[in-house]
Order: sequence, then structure tokens, then C-alpha cells
Amino acid sequence: MNSSLKAWLLPVILLAALAACDKPAAPSAGPSFKTTATIQDLMVAVVDPAADLLWASVATELSKDGLVEKQPRTDEEWLAVRQQAIILVESANLLQIPGRSVVAAGGKLEDAHVPGILSPAEAQKAIHDDQAGFNKAAEGFHEAAAQALTAVDARNVGGLLEAGSRIQQACENCHVKFWYPNAQKPPR
Ligand code: HEC
Repeated sequence: MNSSLKAWLLPVILLAALAACDKPAAPSAGPSFKTTATIQDLMVAVVDPAADLLWASVATELSKDGLVEKQPRTDEEWLAVRQQAIILVESANLLQIPGRSVVAAGGKLEDAHVPGILSPAEAQKAIHDDQAGFNKAAEGFHEAAAQALTAVDARNVGGLLEAGSRIQQACENCHVKFWYPNAQKPPR
């Protein structure tokens, strides 16, 4: 390449580089959450079964031989509880993704026949009007579930039991605001 061609090419390359910089920024690769599942779906498919397994992992059960203290003992049993704790900590995040419907169109909330239970539209409005309160309840749930995870990793049965009752309280804290705020006696 002769030097005059080089002299001509350089500004062209620089200009092209500048033009490239000038282009509007490409759309950022931020998260694109899809709220396909409703809050009800999350409760039924994710939160409730995981909590039930976690609670059932430490229990005093009546058998034909008398009271039996149930607790995770083998590596496998601890791993099984750990998986439920993981499901719970992350479901607390899923609950906070904005724009999620409470129930599918035409659906009902559980215990809809009980006086004081919100209608789906009322529950949706309650969350919409107090998204911060809803997120705070979800965060409290996350903390309780994270406490369970810590207890599992330390193989601390007492700690797991304590975290279990904190989780129960966290479920209740959210339900009493966004599911059955007017119920005389909470159904659960
Ligand atoms: C941050 C809020 C929040 C937390 C935390 C929460 N829930 Fe819920 N839950 C709701 C809302 C809102 C409803 C009412 C809508 C519905 O019926 O699913 C509900 C409903 C339910 C239902 C009824 C589902 C149905 O068939 O209609 C069950 C069961 C349930 N929750 C279990 C739990 C358990 C167990 C926990 C704790 C381990 C929990 N939830 C924690 C918000 C929450």
C-alpha cells in the first residue's frame, strides 16, 4: 500500500469508528421476566409443597412405638431439606417480580366461600396499592427461608425448627394483608 493511500484511509477508518460510537446504544441485555405463572400458581406449585416438606422434616410423630423424633440424619436427608429451603428462598424473589397476576382470569382464591376472603380483583388491588408492603412481606419470607438454609448447612436441627416457625409466621404476615385481611379467624 503506498503512503498516500494510507493517508487517505486513516481518516476514513477513524470516521467509521466514530460513526460506530455515535450509534444509539444497543438495547441493554437486562432481564426480561415473563410472569406466566400467577401468584396462586406459585403458592400451589412452589411455595406450599416446599414449605410442607421442610416443616415435615423436623417433627415429633406418634407411631405404634410411641413418640418418634423425626429429623434429617443422613447426607441424603439433609440434601432433601436443603433443596426445599432453596426453593423457598428463591420463591421469595419470584413473588416480587412486578406485573404478576394473583389468579388466572376467572379463577378464585382458595377459601373464597369463607367470609373475609378477598376477591381476586380485591387481592390484585391490595397488592397494587401496597406493592412496597407486599415486597416487604416477601423479603421477610426470604429472611426466614435463608435462616432455614443456614440451619441446614450447619446441620442444626433446633435452628431448622426455629426457622420453620419463622417461615410460618412469614406466610401468615403476607396472607393476613393480601389474602384474608377481613377474616375473623384465618383459615390457615
Ligand atoms: C409475599 C406474600 C406471600 C407470602 C410470603 C406467602 N404467600 Fe401464600 N398467598 C399469597 C397471596 C396473595 C395468596 C392469595 C392468592 C391465592 O389464592 O393464591 C396466597 C395464597 C396461598 C395459598 C392458597 C392457594 C390457592 O389455592 O388459592 C396457599 C396454600 C399459600 N398461599 C401457601 C403459602 C405458604 C405455605 C407460605 C409460606 C411458606 C406462603 N403462602 C407465603 C401471598 C403470599
